[in-house]
Amino acid sequence: MATGETTTSNADTAETVTASVVGGSGFTGGELLRLLAGHPQFAVAQATSREYANRTVGSVHPNLRGLDVRFSHPDDLERVDVLFAATPHGVSMEQIDEFRALADTVVDLSADFRLDTAGQYDDWYDGHAAPEHLEDAVYALPERHREELPDAELIASGGCNATATILGLGPLADAGLLADADVVVDVKVGSSEGGAGGGAAASHPERSGVVRPYAPTGHRHEAEIEQELDLSVSFTAHAVDMVRGAAATSHVLLDEVPSKAELWGAFREAYEDEPFVRLVAGGGGVYRYPEPKAVAGTNYAEVGFEVDETNGRLVVFSAIDNMMKGSAGQAVHAANVALGFEETAGLDFQGLHPVGAP
Ligand SMILES: NC(=O)c1ccc[n+]([C@@H]2O[C@H](COP(=O)([O-])OP(=O)(O)OC[C@H]3O[C@@H](n4cnc5c(N)ncnc54)[C@H](OP(=O)(O)O)[C@@H]3O)[C@@H](O)[C@H]2O)c1
Repeated sequence: MATGETTTSNADTAETVTASVVGGSGFTGGELLRLLAGHPQFAVAQATSREYANRTVGSVHPNLRGLDVRFSHPDDLERVDVLFAATPHGVSMEQIDEFRALADTVVDLSADFRLDTAGQYDDWYDGHAAPEHLEDAVYALPERHREELPDAELIASGGCNATATILGLGPLADAGLLADADVVVDVKVGSSEGGAGGGAAASHPERSGVVRPYAPTGHRHEAEIEQELDLSVSFTAHAVDMVRGAAATSHVLLDEVPSKAELWGAFREAYEDEPFVRLVAGGGGVYRYPEPKAVAGTNYAEVGFEVDETNGRLVVFSAIDNMMKGSAGQAVHAANVALGFEETAGLDFQGLHPVGAP
């Protein structure tokens, strides 16, 4: 087989579609390749890396040793059914015409198509290079945009911290329980959120053991959360000592805190049929609330809450794996819905327990 044209063992089933992963050597690209390689209906046609072109995928992602795919240069991309872009912010918006010409469906994991308008990109980013594509983009979370996904041609996979926050607060906002609330969100995140490049702040000696506030105000995911929930939130993130995971704690201050029955009702209505959301609140055992370690490596999200009547406060907890439900898993889930596949295809597996730090 020619370099960059190798396929996985799934390729010979009748219903497979071809996929390429642009940015295949990065962290989320590696997770996409792991998921697509195990997916019954995707065949990996290409994975790109400029730095590692012609090297095997396993030489960068040791968990994928044995996968018969070599990195291609992005200039050598060929036509596929689905193109996943797992590239840094700004790359997809510059190349979106080319990406869309190469594939019927483009799933972008970056922030480039998540916001609705060019004005929002002026306010929160450094503008937008291809705003004419924004109105085509469907924002995935599938839990909230399932109806818009079938046959979508451009899918914007949600941000990891935004996903955790939105999954926690969304059902309450939709039920009208957050009107006039003050909402403060604190998210603890693992080091893989920074990507494989990382930088000095993510180097092991600097990162190990930290509980370090970063972007304490003005985090860009605030825009995504407010757009999705139509709600004003104050957002802060802390870098903590884990590799995978985002744990959002949302403090909701209300004049009148809804009853637990109302809260359970809102969460159950939103999630009782959702394959990837687990309600976890109180109960016994060691892990009584949502916990990133319990979902590490999986596409599951855990959501739960507690009521603080004394202080008029509702505390909502949500936990995801940032590289799964927060990016690659969500992207595959959205693609499954867009293409009419079983929603859980390629994603229907549990995590490990016990396990070390995720
Ligand atoms: N990490 C997370 O938890 C997470 C969660 C949600 C969303 N995201 C988003 O997903 C995207 C990827 O994140 P990541 O953490 O996987 O990043 P990463 O580990 O830094 O990987 C970036 C990938 O993009 C490639 N790349 C960089 N510049 C490129 C260019 N100009 N043209 C083509 N390929 C290019 C890199 O390979 P070469 O340089 O070798 O080509 C590499 O494969 C980002 O937009 C990020 O915001 C990440």
